[in-house]
Amino acid sequence: MQIIYAYIKILDNKDEMTQEEVFKKLISHCKEYGFVFPSSEIYDGLSAVYDYGQMGVELKQNIKKYWWDSMILLNENIVGIDSAIFMHPTIWKASGHVDAFNDPLIDNKDSKKRYRADVLIEEQMAKYDEKINKEVEKAAKRFGDSFDEAMFRQTNPRVLENVAKRDELHERFAKAMNDNDLAELRQIIVDYEITCPISGTRNWTDVRQFNLMFSTEMGSTAEGAMKVYLRPETAQGIFVNYLNVQKTGRMRIPFGIAQIGKAFRNEIVARQFIFRMREFEQMEMQFFVRPGEELKWFEQWKETRMKWHKALGLGDHKYRFHDHDKLAHYANAATDIEFEMPFGFKEVEGIHSRTNFDLGSHEKYSGKKLQYFDPELGESYVPYVIETSIGVDRMFLSIMSAAYCEEKLENGESRVVLKLPAALAPVKLAVFPLVKKDGLPDKAREIMNELKFDFKCMYDEKDSIGKRYRRQDAIGTPFCITVDHDTLVDNKVTVRYRDTMLQERINISDIKNLINEQVSFKSLLKKIAKG
Ligand code: GAP
Repeated sequence: MQIIYAYIKILDNKDEMTQEEVFKKLISHCKEYGFVFPSSEIYDGLSAVYDYGQMGVELKQNIKKYWWDSMILLNENIVGIDSAIFMHPTIWKASGHVDAFNDPLIDNKDSKKRYRADVLIEEQMAKYDEKINKEVEKAAKRFGDSFDEAMFRQTNPRVLENVAKRDELHERFAKAMNDNDLAELRQIIVDYEITCPISGTRNWTDVRQFNLMFSTEMGSTAEGAMKVYLRPETAQGIFVNYLNVQKTGRMRIPFGIAQIGKAFRNEIVARQFIFRMREFEQMEMQFFVRPGEELKWFEQWKETRMKWHKALGLGDHKYRFHDHDKLAHYANAATDIEFEMPFGFKEVEGIHSRTNFDLGSHEKYSGKKLQYFDPELGESYVPYVIETSIGVDRMFLSIMSAAYCEEKLENGESRVVLKLPAALAPVKLAVFPLVKKDGLPDKAREIMNELKFDFKCMYDEKDSIGKRYRRQDAIGTPFCITVDHDTLVDNKVTVRYRDTMLQERINISDIKNLINEQVSFKSLLKKIAKG
């Protein structure tokens, strides 16, 4: 099809704001356009709890669908479940959460603010990385095309000095975390002169452990109420149902069980909007394998999950793996997929080789056999598990951060546009009559009534076409079509593309295929399907 015209050129989409400014703007944008609201807002909110609005809920559903279909449709040997949030409290004893699901916390005596000791130290390490990157950037500008970055990193004294400082701190920190040495964590904070961001002082308390699980009571006091926990991960619901699914689904190892659901953690430091919440949603998949084969599967799932992220087209350079220094009590290998948020590279997904720890422990605590009979080997064993675990809310935040864009236009105006991956956009198509008369609204409604079975559509007849485009840009609608007087004669409409703002005239009968090509999950899933 031929592009007919573009009314306005995009002059500049360079990011002149600092990342902090972008983040602030993104948070207010999320509120203004119905993506995310602070929870209980009329009562001044509830810390680290958020509600998703009319646009947010659509984006969230689409993220979940993309994940669910990539697991369930693309893998014959993965099935889903939906287990309850309340579970028998002994599950959390067996999983190690009662005894070991702790964060090391420290208070500043002047500001009375509470911090995670490990996060304070990690932020200090990030400062060394920032210094290194600044040196590299400066040199790249100075030397231009002849710049040899690898050589510069190996030889520049300031870079080497900061690398040495970071590595030294890293080694000390990893050892303290692995040894659970709380006194050493405090000593690191003292030695590196880490100050409280609020008071600016170094007047710190001791470091203490804090359990992150919320608890409540089940049953009336007369019967004898039982202390139960709000699950801090969905994974345990999969472990305790693994044999039910294996037997009823006649599953053979290797096989996986996927689940999407809420999880709850009493986070000490609840900052950064929906990045760290007290109530959040996880998408987890446990993949059950033969003992001894787990590290092979771990590598395979690392690759598969990274492909899933990159297929969204948010920019390959925005992702990286980060291998864990401190392995959780259940893991023999673990890595995070990190995304470059406006506040730096942060974990979005964890991939863990959880050994047979959970199933083995549930066997012990429940007294029930959780073994699998492997017909090929002719023996029974407790399977090993590879887990992929991603937070829906963090995924939401990464997509919104990458999509948020302010652009200057040729006509002196500017626009805010969410360049969301089309398949995830809350609204796929907006339909506008050019004017509110002459039968154009009826024609526009007729088109929308036909397409609403295929995509989420929105009808808008208020204000100028320009203003209507801006409203759709702000919520990330990839396509707008305008019905004008010619439409009544030639059955053609003007389609306008969100990212380029280009417009072209197309037949009404072509709209569905044009949009479908770009918004269907099929084209997204095809990018990651094997074979
Ligand atoms: N079952 C393993 C597990 O829960 P995790 O690394 O603690 O592992 C997995 O959590 C993912 O859940 C994280 O990568 C993150 O995306 C999300 N997540 C964890 N805590 C969160 C919180 N407080 N707020 C939002 N998302 C969170």
